[in-house]
Amino acid sequence: MATRKKLKFGAIIHGVGGNISAWRHPDIPSDASVSFPFYVRAAQKAEEGLFDLAFIADGLYINEKSIPHFLNRFEPITILSALAAATTKIGLVGTLSTSYSEPFTVARQFGSLDMISGGRAGWNVVTSPLEGSARNYGRTEHPSHDERYRIAEEYLKVTKGLWDSWEDDAFVRDKESGVFFDPAKMHRLNHKGTYFSVEGPLNIARSKQGQPVIFQAGSSESGKNLAAKEADAVFTGHESIEEAKAFYSDVKNRTVAYGRSRDDIVILPGIGPIIGSTEEEAERKYEEIANLVSIDKALDYLGRFFEHHDFSQYPLDEPFPDIGDLGSNSFRSGTDKIKRTAKEQGLTLRQVALRSATPRGPFVGTPEKIADLIQRWHEEEAADGFIVHSAFPRGLDDFVEQVVPILQRRGIYRTEYESDTLRGNLGVPIPPNRYAEERSRQAAR
Ligand SMILES: Cc1cc2nc3c(=O)[nH]c(=O)nc-3n(C[C@H](O)[C@H](O)[C@H](O)COP(=O)(O)O)c2cc1C
Repeated sequence: MATRKKLKFGAIIHGVGGNISAWRHPDIPSDASVSFPFYVRAAQKAEEGLFDLAFIADGLYINEKSIPHFLNRFEPITILSALAAATTKIGLVGTLSTSYSEPFTVARQFGSLDMISGGRAGWNVVTSPLEGSARNYGRTEHPSHDERYRIAEEYLKVTKGLWDSWEDDAFVRDKESGVFFDPAKMHRLNHKGTYFSVEGPLNIARSKQGQPVIFQAGSSESGKNLAAKEADAVFTGHESIEEAKAFYSDVKNRTVAYGRSRDDIVILPGIGPIIGSTEEEAERKYEEIANLVSIDKALDYLGRFFEHHDFSQYPLDEPFPDIGDLGSNSFRSGTDKIKRTAKEQGLTLRQVALRSATPRGPFVGTPEKIADLIQRWHEEEAADGFIVHSAFPRGLDDFVEQVVPILQRRGIYRTEYESDTLRGNLGVPIPPNRYAEERSRQAAR
């Protein structure tokens, strides 16, 4: 096997957690989702562990059944801008929806974050799975799954175009002559498409890393194609190494089919390691979190993926109900998987709900066992690295203090940052400014 690039890590920082009831654990500050000190501490811990990036997820619709973290949390660009001042090397990646925003505004926001942080910004491009989002944006209809991806594709074309408004040496700033910029190096995009009409130029220049890093998190056919065409990194979720390997080679092959190199895209599955000094201790910790979840809360959690469907109407201990197409216009890849697994494994509604609310991934055990699994997933091309979330209080701390040193000793993880930009650390290329590139192509003719 060809030598693998070193592992990449991201830390998802999400306050009281992605588990619906984890906030009840005595060691989790119950206001963590809106505690700036909590976010600063987590970002700095990840930076101490030489992580490539801190990751902030987001959503645009809540109701009484949403998980506690979703009810009251920071807007990603805002918190990341504040974290830029509290860190120096770690990348800062935030989720923002292409279905409910304008490309000119978003290009400015991420362009500014990229400049503020000295080239450490990344944007997790999502299309918003939840129909209720439409009602928060004065829309009568939530666009269909396919249309959301068509919008996203044009949206990215516009933002990337806007980010090239200024060539890297456009700002002369010559006080003597009074020349602030070179007009030949300022460019208007003049985009007129199906969904957007944007003249430009953008009022912020490129950062040290050229353009913010593009993350993509959808795993359906359209999601994978968008990633292969436009993204630098993919955030994904898999329960087994076999599933992760199939996804990995699929996305890398699609990327090559779009004329890019396999190394131009980094694939990062999410994991929630639960670490104990013995296997038994780790299992105990998992049970501690799982036991906080009541069946009613688990049904609410499951319902969110299916347009907040009310699952309490079905018998709990009978096979997972036939709910037809429900879910295919929201979290399509996720809901397809839930339905498929329930059928294949003959699971009851209770089992499906509890498994969704507290997934028991393979990454539970001693630091050595977790390091072994990470190494195996990396070597066997199931992942280029991982996005780590704290599935148990102090989960990130345990990972940084106990797993990272093992991976470093094995020579598969960095012992210092290679770069001070996110692209530099992830090892993804800096996109050249398209106009400067064209200029040098013409000069070479
Ligand atoms: C690992 C992962 C993380 C995601 N994070 C977010 C998020 O923070 N906000 C959001 O609105 N959607 C998020 N999504 C949802 C996707 O962006 C997408 O809308 C959804 O998965 C449906 O698209 P798909 O059928 O292509 O997967 C995430 C999906 C995955 C797999």
